[in-house]
Amino acid sequence: MAISGIEALVYGVDDLDQCSRFFDDFGLTPVSRTPQDAVFEVDSGSRVVLMRRGDPRLPTAFSHSVGVHETIWGVDSSASFDRLVADLKRDRDVRIDADGVAHFLADDGMPFGLRVWTKRTVLSVSDPVNTPGRIQRLNQHRQWRARCRPKTINHVVFFVENYRASWRFLRDRLGFRYSDHSRDIGVFARADGTFEHHSIFLLDCKLPVAPGKAGFMHAAFGVDDIDELMIGANYMERKKWANTSRNSSGGVSRHRISSAIYYYVDCPAGGEAEYHADTDYLDDNWVPRVWDFKFGSLMWAHRVPPMFAGDDIPWDMQFDASGASLEEKKA
Ligand SMILES: [Fe+2]
Repeated sequence: MAISGIEALVYGVDDLDQCSRFFDDFGLTPVSRTPQDAVFEVDSGSRVVLMRRGDPRLPTAFSHSVGVHETIWGVDSSASFDRLVADLKRDRDVRIDADGVAHFLADDGMPFGLRVWTKRTVLSVSDPVNTPGRIQRLNQHRQWRARCRPKTINHVVFFVENYRASWRFLRDRLGFRYSDHSRDIGVFARADGTFEHHSIFLLDCKLPVAPGKAGFMHAAFGVDDIDELMIGANYMERKKWANTSRNSSGGVSRHRISSAIYYYVDCPAGGEAEYHADTDYLDDNWVPRVWDFKFGSLMWAHRVPPMFAGDDIPWDMQFDASGASLEEKKA
């Protein structure tokens, strides 16, 4: 293994106070605050870094979009770091800064960083669930939680011009694994040192729900279970942070691909922040699948974007162990 997940998401923001208040309300732990930047973290040690737009430390955002300007991937050892950097240097500029972050651009121009990182172990314990006839909690109440506190950063999502080409870079140069393919929509890919279903989702920027150009879409933060997700959703609503109004499905629901429960919040730093619970966890024994996008995307959602809606969506999933569905389509 080499890449153990998202070490940091670096946002460029216009209103540092407002964006700091958002991530505080969202449940992240504040680490530091200066007039120029704010840093938050989750239990795994993954960070959200907010910098004022125009800060010389901030890379130009992918396709000049708002939101995440740079995704920094954590690397498990200096040997892995040196190997990845040496390979990247064969055909692109790699700048290593004073903090040890290697900055570079992917083939599609997406700003990435690599950094040696020890991911903290997170142990979440969810309560047993009672169902009619199956009592798993007798004379025992559930945990009483005060706030939603995301534990991990599970994935980041970008619109891209050619998701098949962008995927090949992740596979061939950074060792990412193929999780699933939403046919003609996008690819879900997992860093080789993680178990979350996907660390990144790359989707076609020319879709009707997309902005027509490449850029950031959302970031997903892992919480313990549906209870913690509910607490977060209700707290954010009370704090007047709106449930998504743009690209994604509103309300609380599950995706079929990855099985994850989700709730999206419009983020003043750009795009959306997603609470994410009960996702599938994968290792290299997983057999990737290719899905009809309507069948795979949403299960019981309300306020469904029109392109995902339909009264009679056929069940459509095939296994795709070889990744043949991601080969470039013949013109
Ligand atoms: Fe997501």
